Amino acid sequence: MKTYDVAVLVGSLRRESLNRKLAMAMMQLVPPSIALRLVALDELPMYNGDLEADRPEPVNRFTASCAPADAFLLVMPEHNRSLPAVLKNAIDWGSKPAERNVWRDKPVAIGGTSPGAIGTAVGQQHLRQVMGILGAHVMGGEAYLSAKPGFFADDGGIADEGTRAFVSAYLQRFADFTARLAPR
Ligand code: FNR
Repeated sequence: MKTYDVAVLVGSLRRESLNRKLAMAMMQLVPPSIALRLVALDELPMYNGDLEADRPEPVNRFTASCAPADAFLLVMPEHNRSLPAVLKNAIDWGSKPAERNVWRDKPVAIGGTSPGAIGTAVGQQHLRQVMGILGAHVMGGEAYLSAKPGFFADDGGIADEGTRAFVSAYLQRFADFTARLAPR
């Protein structure tokens, strides 16, 4: 059975990011048909068309890391009811030049967490719209999780059994979605 390579982008640079912790917890729960790997966003400069003629090395590293991925998992907080600028900036770099748009035709799953009750729900809708415009196949359904204190267990996993089962099922659905839709 093929193992699909899934690049994970976390929309927070914070050392103690709940979303990076969530991405790491997801790594414990993925089915064997997908393998998650984190792609760093911290060295990307802000998008500037003037840099296109000679793209900075961190941008080349980023796109070289994304381009071969079979699929993407985007895990992000919500910033003012939208996607965080750090993730949007990475998406913008990856979308250009248009003939090398790294997102086109790729399966994408969206997830995220914040301490708030409906945290990330509205931001995820914005992200869904952006990825749709870029020609990605965005999986339906929603995975927004409220990370109150105690959400993560000492081993870095998700403490609550029901939440763990929900995330496992979401990842299984994403694995099936990727197997159906990843470019050959
Ligand atoms: C936030 N936060 C936030 N939370 C939320 O549920 N909805 C929102 O619209 C916002 N808006 C927002 C804007 C800005 C600029 C910041 C810095 C924060 C709170 C946010 O969810 C919280 O800080 C998370 O812990 C951030 O995610 P990481 O960094 O822990 O992954």
